[in-house]
Amino acid sequence: MQEPVLSMRGVCKAFPGVLALNEVDFDLLPREVHVLLGENGAGKSTLMKILSGSYQMDQGEIRLQGRPVSISGPRQAQSLGVRTIYQELNLIPHLSAAENIFLGNEPLRALGVLDQGRIVSDSRRLLRELGATFSPRTRVASLSIAEQQMVEVAKALSEKARILIMDEPTSALSDSEIAQLFSTVRRLQKKGTSVIYISHRLEELFEIGDRVTVLRDGRRIETRPVSQARIADLVRVMTDREIGDHFPRQKREPGEEVLRVEGLRLGKQLRCIDFSLRRGEVLGLAGLVGSGRTALARALFGAEPSAGGRVWMRGRPLRLRSPAQAIRQGIALLPEDRKSQGLVLGMSIQDNIALPNLDALSWLGVVQGKGVWALARRFIQDLRIKTPGPAQKAIFLSGGNQQKVALAKWLARDAEVLIFDEPTRGIDVGAKVEIYQLINRLAARGAAIVMISSELPEILGMSDRILVMHEGRISGEFAAGEATQQMLLSAAIGEERAECRRGRREGDAEER
Ligand SMILES: Nc1ncnc2c1ncn2[C@@H]1O[C@H](COP(=O)(O)OP(=O)(O)OP(=O)(O)O)[C@@H](O)[C@H]1O
Ligand SMILES: [Mg+2]
Repeated sequence: MQEPVLSMRGVCKAFPGVLALNEVDFDLLPREVHVLLGENGAGKSTLMKILSGSYQMDQGEIRLQGRPVSISGPRQAQSLGVRTIYQELNLIPHLSAAENIFLGNEPLRALGVLDQGRIVSDSRRLLRELGATFSPRTRVASLSIAEQQMVEVAKALSEKARILIMDEPTSALSDSEIAQLFSTVRRLQKKGTSVIYISHRLEELFEIGDRVTVLRDGRRIETRPVSQARIADLVRVMTDREIGDHFPRQKREPGEEVLRVEGLRLGKQLRCIDFSLRRGEVLGLAGLVGSGRTALARALFGAEPSAGGRVWMRGRPLRLRSPAQAIRQGIALLPEDRKSQGLVLGMSIQDNIALPNLDALSWLGVVQGKGVWALARRFIQDLRIKTPGPAQKAIFLSGGNQQKVALAKWLARDAEVLIFDEPTRGIDVGAKVEIYQLINRLAARGAAIVMISSELPEILGMSDRILVMHEGRISGEFAAGEATQQMLLSAAIGEERAECRRGRREGDAEER
């Protein structure tokens, strides 16, 4: 066997109430892509944060190229050639993409003057290599999550990395962007970089991985070549239990119409959208990143006051000018970007869940502490949130467990229309099934659900009806069971106007 680039031995790390890593061994070979798998809270990010100097291990040894090293902080890790793209993006929103890419590593001209021209031209080249279409001068705040992700990757590329850690890089990317990312990873590999790759999308393993290591409850369970791995076995090793049907869709008979949308428009993002939604229905909304799905969700939630068009709820015209109004009307949105919009990180799990549900938890105007606690306990169990208890602050949870808390906030609500934007992003394979079951229960109770997702198997597996968006329009509508991945994809790239069971509206036609 080749000498490993990196070898970690007996790594232990404890947090109050949690043994995050327990005697973990991990090796990385030259030019390999080593995939790290495990449920939410298994310890993947913690192991990587130790390698990249953000956390100190309690016990253990790290060798780079056979030499023992002690990694005391992020700067030192960088000087050793370890680069990380974190699960949570770490960009500075008010700087441009180019400035972010070269932050802390700026090329200087004589006399120490910043070489702005080079920053922009080098950034343009790096971004182009990744297939990005936006200008390097764009402010990061106005980029989509997928585009911000590309900026992060470009930043790592600009600094010559020996070991590149990618912690869920694809969770916010669409299929074509993932393909681009993978070709970049292969390019890096050829140049001699080794990659540690974390993802909850198990299929990716076979496309990009050479070896795979599974962590469970802070322990390393096994390491094997990808050529000898099967998904079903890996899932069993990860979860230590049998996961039944991955998409437990129930047979449903949607009821009367709850929501009707006509001619909804918002600049270039939404152009004359119409559709309706029925009680007890799960409507899947597919499309590429940037196709208008999130804009549609935000407009329905009153978060885009300048949107035009008409919306009826139970036959009554709705004015959607603010989220508060939408919530009063019984519309709830689980936003795509949970980090900034979905959770108060400094608050406990139970208070986060209680926050939008205070009306139901209060009696004579007083919030019932016991009810708050019980509600949180229920979701901790149902969604397998890994935590010492409901009083734990959200900031101390693993990325996937934070997602679960954000989801619980809205699952606990009695909204009539629930919009979920990427509900299972970053969620492990076992907990996904629990979330699908909760969505089923909500639908069975009569809620109408819009589920936006970039994972086509999830859209196909869970929806009663599917709409596909392309450049701000609905480019396809399919009933459950009649759509295939291929059909959704061609509608998503606007290849052909997929068969629309509803006739085209006249206003729609003339606008085109
Ligand atoms: N700073 C911290 N303080 C307290 N507990 C922490 C801290 N960081 C991580 N933990 C705990 O350590 C455990 C492992 O977390 P880690 O983030 O490594 O999980 P992960 O495998 O990356 O999960 P995910 O797939 O959800 O990202 C979890 O139980 C988490 O709550
Ligand atoms: Mg993580």
